[in-house]
Amino acid sequence: MSAAPQALIFDLLEQTDHPLLKRSLAAVALDPDAFAALFYAKVFESKPGMRVLFPADMAQQRMKLIQTLGVVIASIDSPDALVPVLRQLGAAHRGYGAKTVHYQFVADALIAALSETLGPEWSPDMELAWQRLLQWVSMHMIAGADAANRA
Ligand code: HEM
Repeated sequence: MSAAPQALIFDLLEQTDHPLLKRSLAAVALDPDAFAALFYAKVFESKPGMRVLFPADMAQQRMKLIQTLGVVIASIDSPDALVPVLRQLGAAHRGYGAKTVHYQFVADALIAALSETLGPEWSPDMELAWQRLLQWVSMHMIAGADAANRA
């Protein structure tokens, strides 16, 4: 990838978002399993067709996305190190049946679950911070899937 698009992608992450992201994830960490259950319920409620892509028993699955977001937010101050990890995760998602369009559904469900979990603590600034983060994460995962498709 040339220097210019890399810089553009990087610019989507705002330093001022970091405390908001960390604060909202701390609220999720009070009961991560309940949060994960709420998130997947929202995904399958809005897009029932996505249920078949996931295992019947969601106990293991519940933590995976949340754990990954924890890692992303913990490393957010040096995001360039995350890019290859996200590209690889995106390439692996081809095998799970994930399509580009699904990423927006996942982001919407995650933001809805965060808003419900945080209640009065949730704010428009937090929502924007999560939208930016999830757009950045999805972009790198999709780029990793596209590159693997071309290889
Ligand atoms: C924010 C974006 C996403 C993140 C951070 C994420 C994270 C993860 C992680 C960490 C795993 C565990 C397996 C692995 O490490 O490869 C996983 C599995 C999986 N993800 Fe995602 N994911 C995301 C988006 C999506 C989307 C858009 C779909 C759409 C269908 C999806 C469907 C799945 C499925 C079906 C599995 C495997 C379930 C199984 O058979 O065990 N994910 N995801």
